[in-house]
Amino acid sequence: MISRKMKTSLQFLVLFVTINRVESSCKDKCVALASYTIWDKSNITFVSQIFSTAIPEILSYNPQITNADIVSAGAKINVPFSCGCNDQGFLNHGFVYSVGSEDTYSVIAETYFSGLTNVDMLRRFNSYDDLNLKSGSQVNVVVNCSCGNSRVSKYYGLFTTYPIRRGENLSTIANDTTISESLLRGYNPGSNFLNKDLVFIPGRGIDLTITSDFSLVNIELFNIVCYIHR
Ligand SMILES: *[C@@H]1O[C@H](CO)[C@@H](O)[C@H](O)[C@H]1NC(C)=O
Ligand SMILES: *[C@@H]1O[C@H](CO)[C@@H](O)[C@H](O)[C@H]1NC(C)=O
Ligand SMILES: *[C@@H]1O[C@H](CO)[C@@H](O)[C@H](O)[C@H]1NC(C)=O
Ligand SMILES: *[C@@H]1O[C@H](CO)[C@@H](O)[C@H](O)[C@H]1NC(C)=O
Repeated sequence: MISRKMKTSLQFLVLFVTINRVESSCKDKCVALASYTIWDKSNITFVSQIFSTAIPEILSYNPQITNADIVSAGAKINVPFSCGCNDQGFLNHGFVYSVGSEDTYSVIAETYFSGLTNVDMLRRFNSYDDLNLKSGSQVNVVVNCSCGNSRVSKYYGLFTTYPIRRGENLSTIANDTTISESLLRGYNPGSNFLNKDLVFIPGRGIDLTITSDFSLVNIELFNIVCYIHR
């Protein structure tokens, strides 16, 4: 006969495994942001077209833009998009880009989509001959995204897909975003934060000072619970 204590442990184990399974399967859906660098000859209208998102919707995530007609090359803007699972089991959004004359996968990924995807991804999700793209072809542009991970932190709700630009690394990104290096690592396990890598940056959570207080409170509660259980 299974002892009562062991039965409880088993129930706990089953619960634990179930929770873990739910978290690792791809079911999430959320709004995410894409960090887009404006290049010379591009403008908000162009961004609005390739992401199929209305200009006012884009502007609502970019309070720093005071005049939508004047956004200088090199400026980074946030573009909201819906993030969900695809049949390969990871979070992304599939945009469709209509090929113009002389477009190549590399121009589409690195310039038009500002490094938010790469040539490998375009090859993986399209069957065109990438050396001979025909004008008017519809290219699937898959951009990865994140809806967070409650095992890392519960206090962030909006994640930016961020292509690491030249000269940037974990410490410059941590400094620029005021998100700690350990939190950035937590949301990007396996990333070396190298130029052109895509990383997810948490944002718009609860105010940072409050967040750290909350985690402390949580750790305290956890300690108390553990103590009582002993
Ligand atoms: C916006 O950029 C597109 C793509 O480069 C260009 O065709 C269009 O003329 C630009 N519009 C304005 C108002 O600058
Ligand atoms: C997007 O995510 C998939 C699945 O994790 C990965 O295989 C792919 O390399 C990622 N793409 C980029 C550009 O990081
Ligand atoms: C990150 O980049 C900054 C500025 O480019 C540089 O000073 C620093 O040494 C780099 N850090 C690492 C760990 O590469
Ligand atoms: C850190 O961020 C501040 C303010 O955003 C900036 O002025 C400074 O140059 C940054 N330092 C590094 C090493 O990136």
